[in-house]
Amino acid sequence: MLRFFSLLSASFFSLIAAGQQTIPLLTKNNALVLQVDAQKNVNTIYFGEKLGNTAEYAKVLSMYRQGEEYTGVADAAYSSAGSKDLFEPAISAVHADGNTSLDLAYVSHNSENIGKGATLTTIILKDRVYPFQVKLFYKTYADQDVVEIWNTISHTEKKPVVLTKFASANLYFRAPEFWLRNYHGEWAREMQPEEAKLTHGIKTLDTKLGARANLFQPPLFMVSMGKPATEDDGDVLVGSVSWTGNFKVDLELDNRDNLRLTAGISNFQSAYTLKPNEEFETAKFLYTFSSKGKGLASRNLHNWAREFGMVDGHGSRMTLLNNWEATYFDFNEQKLADLLKDTKKLGVDLFLLDDGWFANKYPRNDDHAGLGDWKENTKKLPNGISYLVKEATNNGVKFGIWIEPEMVNPKSELYEKHPDWVIKQPGRPEHYFRNQLVLDLTNPTVQNFVFGVVDDLLTKNPTLAYIKWDCNAVIYNAHSAFLTNQQHLYIEYVRGLYKVLQRIRAKYPTIPLMLCSGGGGRVDYGALQYFTEYWPSDNTDPLERIYMQWEYSYFFPAMASSNHVTEWGKQPLKYRIDVAMMGKMGFDIVISKLPEKELALAQQSVRVYDSVKNVIWHGDQYRLSDPWKEPVASVMYVDQQKSKAVVFNYLVNNRYGQGSVMPVKLKGLDAGGQYRIREVNVLPGSRSAIDAARTYTGEFLMKIGFNPAVRQGRNSVVLVVERV
Ligand code: DGJ
Repeated sequence: MLRFFSLLSASFFSLIAAGQQTIPLLTKNNALVLQVDAQKNVNTIYFGEKLGNTAEYAKVLSMYRQGEEYTGVADAAYSSAGSKDLFEPAISAVHADGNTSLDLAYVSHNSENIGKGATLTTIILKDRVYPFQVKLFYKTYADQDVVEIWNTISHTEKKPVVLTKFASANLYFRAPEFWLRNYHGEWAREMQPEEAKLTHGIKTLDTKLGARANLFQPPLFMVSMGKPATEDDGDVLVGSVSWTGNFKVDLELDNRDNLRLTAGISNFQSAYTLKPNEEFETAKFLYTFSSKGKGLASRNLHNWAREFGMVDGHGSRMTLLNNWEATYFDFNEQKLADLLKDTKKLGVDLFLLDDGWFANKYPRNDDHAGLGDWKENTKKLPNGISYLVKEATNNGVKFGIWIEPEMVNPKSELYEKHPDWVIKQPGRPEHYFRNQLVLDLTNPTVQNFVFGVVDDLLTKNPTLAYIKWDCNAVIYNAHSAFLTNQQHLYIEYVRGLYKVLQRIRAKYPTIPLMLCSGGGGRVDYGALQYFTEYWPSDNTDPLERIYMQWEYSYFFPAMASSNHVTEWGKQPLKYRIDVAMMGKMGFDIVISKLPEKELALAQQSVRVYDSVKNVIWHGDQYRLSDPWKEPVASVMYVDQQKSKAVVFNYLVNNRYGQGSVMPVKLKGLDAGGQYRIREVNVLPGSRSAIDAARTYTGEFLMKIGFNPAVRQGRNSVVLVVERV
């Protein structure tokens, strides 16, 4: 056996170690350590909390007595199929001569500091027989404890090579047991968690939907090691594939009870033909590791996202009034003029005009027609969008607009003119998702068209201040009239989408863009690099949102979460407002129909939000009381100076006597600081029972806690904690 460490004596071990080279990939607290062995295999020897003495990583494996390692490469840093590796590979290929084997050996590596605390380590691997190369990239973000892994694949064989698998990352973990938390979903039921112990064999998380790809399963997951991690305890990897299309994550518990993770773009119907000298770049796999539970892991990701992973992560966001649920498709210029006045009256920054403003030959009066025909409907809007944008300015608010530029209704002029722009199988009946089809973004002409939809709007209306980018259909009948190799469709679709988004961002770097997909069917860090925010779900029932936002918040920062107050659910307006505040707040209700008291509450909440939004957007988030386990959900945001915090508390169980019986322990405060607590978002005309004059030490609030007095009739309570 190549590496049968369990039998090696210490002296023999050090001999081997002499011929070996370790490649430590370090962040502030953690290490992923690779080792090049005497046979030039690159293996994973350590994953976890950083050691003080780097030299000791080489001793780690000698401490495991796990039995024989038959393959010699089970812990490969990038496992290849067809030679010795008998587990789920990271890469597999068919060479130009038809041979199906790969066996990658170390050639060289190099690390460079690329600024902002990030280091890029590149490792070059080459096949031992074929002129086939893989460059592994590990980008370590020291301060955030985040790592991105991806690679490029190329060759100089005489003819094309077909890549049949091409994972971004391949990690290997050693622990007594592993627990996977992953998510399933549906429209209006996004981010439903499941957590289970991994058993031997492979657990696959994937999607084959092509577009709106995360509808049933997002690429977001956590692996706890040793025991299920809690908020503040346990070893946990929180990871995701940054790819806005088909992804695949395989978790294989092997014969020695170790876990191999391979993650990247899915190879489903996607064997990729790679020409000589062409480079295939995989998606990025993103993870953070925490040895102190899920809470810290989430804050790592939030910090990373605001710094590197989204547009304008340190900036500001606009509150808004959206007309989708207020009008659906039924509006005209007058109704919108009234809504602009309501926007002003409510006190939010922007009015967002949703679906239904376009198409003439086949007017967009419902979701059966018009998609693709991006000209204002002259009956509804005789003076066009420009008039509304100006009217918004006259009312002292900004104007935003909804588009869904990747899609087409068969009942549209676009489809009539360009049936070849549509993804569909020739000779098979069309199959629709929400009565629509997906445009073929692999085709550069279609990319131009989609870019043009945005560019036209912004050229004609330079003060247009916001775009909601929707995507309501999956890809059925995957076939492109443009591509010669249909196996490339799923990958080229996403690349085409990114090309369009890159062009938009090059020309309009700052315009806020909301990533929507008939709800949350699309959010991932591949897309978020072009967007300022995402729409978690069409389900805005606040009770449901407490759970969804809770789960999303492990992966994405609050400032990216668009939360609208709507008529969904049975909760009072205050409860709905309080839940929407835990992110980027908006409204989608008929302001003119609100009773006087409720209007006053909504107006007041916009002012309250203005006073706390910076803490929510840029502060540290702590989950204090878990709605899946407790009758009260509590979530807290603390600013970087620990001088101001907001604590949201909700009753999530209506059974008799339920409420905050115990105090809720706060987190993230300065133990030695003195704080006052006051309640906000109190119904106009009522008084809070909380004594805002009392002071508490941070220590008290974190060790004893504070009781928000949540109970029936006081179902949601928002507290502002301020240093005295
Ligand atoms: C789906 C989105 O999630 C909704 O918010 C709304 O924009 C509709 N599409 C419009 O058709």
